Amino acid sequence: MNIREALVKGRQYLKEQQIDSFQLDAQVLLSQVTGIDRTGLFMRQEQPLTPQQQEKYQILLERRAQGEPVAYLIGRKEFMGRDFVVTPDVLIPRPDTELMVETAVKFFHKNSSCPPVAVDVGTGSGAIAVSLASLVQELQVYAIDLSEAALKVARQNAERLGMKERVHFQQGNLLEPLLKTMGEEVSIITANLPYVPSGDIPTLMRDVKEFEPHLALDGGPDGLDLYRLLIPQAYRLLQPGGLLLMEIGPGQGTGAKKILPAGQWQGTVLKDLAGRERLVLAEKKGEHF
Ligand SMILES: C[S@@+](CC[C@H](N)C(=O)[O-])C[C@H]1O[C@@H](n2cnc3c(N)ncnc32)[C@H](O)[C@@H]1O
Repeated sequence: MNIREALVKGRQYLKEQQIDSFQLDAQVLLSQVTGIDRTGLFMRQEQPLTPQQQEKYQILLERRAQGEPVAYLIGRKEFMGRDFVVTPDVLIPRPDTELMVETAVKFFHKNSSCPPVAVDVGTGSGAIAVSLASLVQELQVYAIDLSEAALKVARQNAERLGMKERVHFQQGNLLEPLLKTMGEEVSIITANLPYVPSGDIPTLMRDVKEFEPHLALDGGPDGLDLYRLLIPQAYRLLQPGGLLLMEIGPGQGTGAKKILPAGQWQGTVLKDLAGRERLVLAEKKGEHF
């Protein structure tokens, strides 16, 4: 079997198995087993596959047909232009979350005199924390997750992407590990905590509900349980004028703004490129730096 035949076979098989992204997935999986990038596959269509490559490709196609996400099959996902290692212990970073990183970077560029300190809570693969450290000079990022297994992956990403000196990982519940040692010295807190309402979990796509960690998804009855607990903790760590950024899902904007005490916070909801509510930007009231 050559590359052209393998692509046709993979594409047809995944289509029959009702995988929507059958064309792209067949290419990415073949690229993974051959070590040839996607453009290269089209340049080298007549190149034969070795029996080992054919066997590996077949196994990956079957796992994909069962709903296993491509990112877990190949062990990586691109986020903010960088490749992050992902395993089933971490949520696969989503393009929607890039809005949070872009918003935080803009804030630091606009407020050059604010302390170069950020916190990323629920860091998962470390995608937000490591991207922020890469994009904001001299920024120190404290990154927390409840899951030790997720932190192992995040540490690996910080090391691979050269940010290990400036991203500091801690295991713990929300901001608790920092509340013991820090005061109002943080400029930004990024939080992509679980926000899927518990009742919606059964309606999620199979790829998500059967393969991604439920600890990364379930946000309680209205999806905002963890944010309710986070907001008073964030208030204690942020400088006046500092920002708490919370990722939300479509339709959660009004509810999320309501849980911000009006005397303490100025809340705004940002939409993603698809026009869906995606990010709550909460500024701590008080004198700015
Ligand atoms: C939606 S995932 C986001 C992962 C990553 N920040 C991203 O954007 O790709 C949520 C993360 O929050 C972590 N988490 C859940 N509950 C937590 C808690 N109470 N304290 C700290 N982290 C928590 C999960 O382990 C998971 O890694």
